[in-house]
Amino acid sequence: MIPAQPRGSATLRREIARRRTFAIVSHPDAGKTTLTEKFLLYGGAVQLAGSVTARRDQRSTTSDWMELEKKRGISISSTVLQFDYRDFRINLLDTPGHSDFSEDTYRVLTAVDAAVMVIDAAKGIENQTRKLFEVCRQRGVPIFTFMNKLDRPSREPLALLDQLEDVLGIAAYPMNWPLGTGQDFKGVWDRCDRVAPHLRGDAEGELPGAGHQRRADRSGHPRSDERAVVPCPAGRDRAAGRRGHGIGRRRHRLGPDDAGVLRQRAQQLRRAAAARRLPRALAAAGLSRRSGSITVQPDQEAFTGFVFKIQANMDPRHRDRIAFVRVVSGTFNRDMSVTVARTGAKTRLSNAAKVFGRDRETVDEAYAGDVVGIVGNSRLIIGDTLTEDPAIAYDEIPRFPPECFSYLENTDTAKFKQFRNGVDQLLEEGVVQRFEQPDSSRQRQLIGAVGPLQFEIVQYRLESEYGAAARIVPAPWTVARWVESELADRDLPLPGDASLVRDALGRRIALFVNEWSLRYFSDRHPGVKLHVSPQ
Ligand code: G4P
Repeated sequence: MIPAQPRGSATLRREIARRRTFAIVSHPDAGKTTLTEKFLLYGGAVQLAGSVTARRDQRSTTSDWMELEKKRGISISSTVLQFDYRDFRINLLDTPGHSDFSEDTYRVLTAVDAAVMVIDAAKGIENQTRKLFEVCRQRGVPIFTFMNKLDRPSREPLALLDQLEDVLGIAAYPMNWPLGTGQDFKGVWDRCDRVAPHLRGDAEGELPGAGHQRRADRSGHPRSDERAVVPCPAGRDRAAGRRGHGIGRRRHRLGPDDAGVLRQRAQQLRRAAAARRLPRALAAAGLSRRSGSITVQPDQEAFTGFVFKIQANMDPRHRDRIAFVRVVSGTFNRDMSVTVARTGAKTRLSNAAKVFGRDRETVDEAYAGDVVGIVGNSRLIIGDTLTEDPAIAYDEIPRFPPECFSYLENTDTAKFKQFRNGVDQLLEEGVVQRFEQPDSSRQRQLIGAVGPLQFEIVQYRLESEYGAAARIVPAPWTVARWVESELADRDLPLPGDASLVRDALGRRIALFVNEWSLRYFSDRHPGVKLHVSPQ
């Protein structure tokens, strides 16, 4: 029996209760940046619409800070934006917006309590949405779905709900409902408050039978924005999702009968939630986390947190390295001394910052739910647990098996030192993974990533941040599997076009040219166990 951890003060509990830590995920172009901007705007964190999305004219933006991001008009590296909205303290973790899925996105999703999934209402669920959803499901991250671009011709709302159910297998309860689409779009109907507070043009005002006036929050902003989402409790319970079956197939317009169908769905979801078959929703503050057999509650007194991201050279003027720590429990104080669970060593968290785009602000205190950037502490690596309670060590952040491989070659031997330092730093950040081959050398290294854009990022950052020129030479493999076998390397009967390599911890990995080759090998050699992640 694990003794209960001492609970923190009333201040700590109050601060935790008002925190909301989430990420916005979407297929590129669905509207993630636009929505981020709205959050920032209503939270008063930016003054001017367009300061985040102004990509076209290449102006510098709040969340896209790298040169490459500006050049390509994409968001490569995640940033953390903290701002207040009404009584809440919002921690919005940005995720890369390009079409390659990257491990960075996955790591961000380990640090959030919920995710908002933005869907283009004309396109429905797209590829990237599906992948990101799958990661949220695996991690049990509750999802709110935001159907965007309703002012353009879009699919019928119930058809979109149906697609959520059919493709992602989740039940959804619409919090609000579009009044018309495309040119006829009038605004949204808030199904909780029974008002239409966000109507366009002449249509603005109370709807017949609504029984409420348009409302604004204290800052004068329409209240509906925080509810312009359809919460889709995802992840932990597929079965609950299936039970909310098929309303879209029966009706695609919200008439009185449809309202009845939606009410019925709401009841089903309420019952599922009561039976704890659905995860807590966006309205929930920091979640508890497991450390072996211990459940760590956010309001326990002892500070704990983990590093989910490392980023060097965010500010070209300082060339420093920031470790982003998600505070899981207790209170963070600048200068506090904590144990790094991996090494057992004590470290002082002296230089702590809140990072907003390029801007930094010193952080003296932070609470469970917050993200703190620890600047210049070279001892920290991704996945590290920082703790005041030596009994707590959070699970390692799992790595994805790479699907693309390339050789990274140093093209200027005079700059070898810069090349080596740059590669080491980018490996620490987890931009790519490195693999040892018998003929690897420091000048020519085999690297792997989930998406090929990561190679371009490595090449670009080596040059721009370290002054090292590098060449990327594609390698033929697309499937990686960790090997479990008694056989020695030379006795493993791998096909001629496969390769046996080692990861950073010396574990053996077989690289295959394609899934077919992998299957062919597995069928013939069932004694050699192949795993998608290290054992
Ligand atoms: P992303 O971060 O998910 O990649 O998408 P982003 O917000 O950049 O939006 C992609 C495009 O869709 C942008 O247009 C944006 O203005 C537009 N958009 C986003 N939300 C809505 C919406 O609700 N309605 C309509 N009609 N358009 C929307 P763009 O032309 O690519 O850029 P911009 O010049 O408008 O910034």
